[in-house]
Amino acid sequence: MNGLLCYCRAGFEPELAAELTERAAQTGHTGYARTERGTGYVVFACDSAQALSQASPWRELIFARQKLLLIAELRDLDPRDRIAPMLSALPADVKFGDLFVEHPDSDAAKPLSGLARSFANALRPALRKAGLLSAGERNDLPRLHVCFIAGDQALLAIGEPSDSAPWPLGIPRLRMHADAPSRSALKLEEALLCLLDDDERQRLLQPGMRAADLGAAPGGWTWVLMRNGLHVTAIDNGPLRPHLFDSGLVEHLRADGFAWQPQRPLDWMVCDMVEQPRRVAARMAQWFGEGWCRHAIFNLKLPMKRRWQETVLCLQEFSSQAGKPLLLRARQLYHDREEITVFASLRNPR
Ligand SMILES: C[S@@+](CC[C@H](N)C(=O)[O-])C[C@H]1O[C@@H](n2cnc3c(N)ncnc32)[C@H](O)[C@@H]1O
Repeated sequence: MNGLLCYCRAGFEPELAAELTERAAQTGHTGYARTERGTGYVVFACDSAQALSQASPWRELIFARQKLLLIAELRDLDPRDRIAPMLSALPADVKFGDLFVEHPDSDAAKPLSGLARSFANALRPALRKAGLLSAGERNDLPRLHVCFIAGDQALLAIGEPSDSAPWPLGIPRLRMHADAPSRSALKLEEALLCLLDDDERQRLLQPGMRAADLGAAPGGWTWVLMRNGLHVTAIDNGPLRPHLFDSGLVEHLRADGFAWQPQRPLDWMVCDMVEQPRRVAARMAQWFGEGWCRHAIFNLKLPMKRRWQETVLCLQEFSSQAGKPLLLRARQLYHDREEITVFASLRNPR
């Protein structure tokens, strides 16, 4: 079997299918998406899956939490021996550096988490014995993914460590900090983790930088920036949690986030105002067009219908209205519900 296996938020399979279909068409690959709403995954069947995968880097995909190369689909697995058919379905010439046994993030598949855990303990030694898995975890070798769809059905897939999410199910495990003013803090933490690579996080997010947070209350995003040592001007008519001011890094202005502008250019602007996505995209573009910030992370709320089309439209309008060369990445994060989070950064900033 040839294809891509991608995970997504349950309910967003049509958007992911549309995204993969469009990617394939744009890059000259033929294939079709096999999917069912609510399952939390999409298989994109394609003869040139490897080439399509290379043309669709994981960090550039919006609705895929994970992107893998599908190698086999196993049905009617015998619960007394699921291992033998897996071993024989694996390519003999590939040695894996790690094993993830998982299941899609859907209501129907969640009960499979116990099976996934115990099966991983049984499969790991069998793979090592067959010479298919390295003795210790290795990042320079592909990762084997076993994705249980049902107790008797599993998808086998390969994850390229440099081009896939490093977390099981494609979900980073972030813990809510006791000091965080809101759960939204996790969203910005996840955005920084998923939308920037290690090097970008180090270079672009440095103590002493200045940021604005539009729609800041009660202060989760402001808190994340402040903990990274940034000075934050928090814009919101609502109140911020008082302990944010202890650091001396936070200033609160009660103002309209769509009208306020900084007196001098800032390093960062983040925006979590819940508004019409096109209105947000236009205002974000104006920030870049006017040179008010060099980097931004903002949310775009998705409509109930035509969500893929609206996503494409908003991102296109944002890019063209900004009028400057931008690095642009967007993703529906684990902590995003009916929205996506966008990272934009000036190319060759000062
Ligand atoms: C989802 S909450 C933000 C949560 C925040 N990011 C956090 O981490 O705690 C949205 C906020 O946007 C604010 N907001 C909405 N429209 C606004 C506007 N035009 N100007 C300023 N703030 C606005 C609301 O008052 C609300 O506090």
